[in-house]
Amino acid sequence: MQATPEPQAAPTVDVEALRAQFPALQGGAAHFDGPGGSQVPRAVADAISRQLTSPMSTRGEVTAAERNSDAAVHGAREALGDLMGTDPGGVVFGRSMTALTFDLARTLAQDWGPGDEVVVSRLDHDANIRPWLLAAERVGATVRWAEFDPSSGELPPDAVGAVVTDRTRLVAVTAASNLIGTKPDLPAIAALAHDRGALLFVDAVHLAPHALVDRMGMGADLVACSPYKFFGPHCGALAAAPELLDSLHPDKLVPSSDAVPERFELGTLPYELMAGVTAAIEVIAGIVPGDGSRRERLTTSLAAVAAHELQLRQDLEPRLAELPGATLHSRAGDRTPTLLVTFEGHDSKDVSRQLAACGVNAPAGHFYALEASRALGLGDTGGLRIGLASYTDADDIERLLDGLSEVVGR
Ligand SMILES: Cc1ncc(COP(=O)(O)O)c(C=O)c1O
Repeated sequence: MQATPEPQAAPTVDVEALRAQFPALQGGAAHFDGPGGSQVPRAVADAISRQLTSPMSTRGEVTAAERNSDAAVHGAREALGDLMGTDPGGVVFGRSMTALTFDLARTLAQDWGPGDEVVVSRLDHDANIRPWLLAAERVGATVRWAEFDPSSGELPPDAVGAVVTDRTRLVAVTAASNLIGTKPDLPAIAALAHDRGALLFVDAVHLAPHALVDRMGMGADLVACSPYKFFGPHCGALAAAPELLDSLHPDKLVPSSDAVPERFELGTLPYELMAGVTAAIEVIAGIVPGDGSRRERLTTSLAAVAAHELQLRQDLEPRLAELPGATLHSRAGDRTPTLLVTFEGHDSKDVSRQLAACGVNAPAGHFYALEASRALGLGDTGGLRIGLASYTDADDIERLLDGLSEVVGR
């Protein structure tokens, strides 16, 4: 008889080892501000510094300086391709997700006109609303809004389906809300968009630090992320199938490359930031040490990160809910560990300021998810956002709860 194999323990995050990689975490504050931008590992700063202090020049193949710049570009495209589950030949690098989305919206709108429609969601960060809205307005196209349910925090596919028509050219939706964490069912939304011949643009900026992005699996024609949310430097990236990019014609200089993806990248690329992005993705892939391709290691590491963050969230949420006057607005069934809370009788900005005085960094506001904040009844004030990250530990959670008890009572 064959022996039954021992069940394999699920890979876990060694939080102490991970935290040791971040000089800023030695600073003493408990960081719940990750959704605004994560802390940065030493290896990322080193890679940026190494690139800057190596011989560098315009990309090329002749001198070592040219090759160093070229390698930084190719390295970052490969790494971002692994991170987002997409062909590196379709990875566009840019200043920020916002800048890339404005540029793309202008480019896509060249082909829109009166009678065409664009769908945006009320759940999204304004960077995945306003560029589409302004581009549509400029060419006389119509904007339709997919409404999320403020009581559940859910954006059901039907809410998107209700506003998708045969005239829809593009559906823009988030992979995860940066305000309340909601993760809509993207494959179902993609099917609705594609059935009507529309493109799907997915904002994966908030999802990327918490789960594996899979452009093709989620059915996204275009997906965007921002490396500074996942240990990297401040920049953005956009990805699509190279064939789709090849069909688009952004404004560009005459002498600049018309190749894809360079056609979409205005001016000289920031080689040092690109080296930093590659290093950040390597750090994520190494959270659970192991073998395999980088995509496989990212898959394992991000699964462990998701399990770690879920555990912390499940420990924290009931204790937060018990605090006097607390209302938790982050309620969707499937969501990132990003909690939005308000306390009756307390201004969220004051709570945030008082927490900061106790060494706990948790900002308050609407975080540019202005439409979502208003739909939740929180107006332009928003709430206190508690963002858990892969490097959050149990001690951080205790410090947060102690700090909140000081401010709002037990
Ligand atoms: C969900 C989401 N989308 C878009 C953005 C904008 O990203 P960027 O700062 O790269 O323009 C943010 C930034 O906070 C975000 O959280």
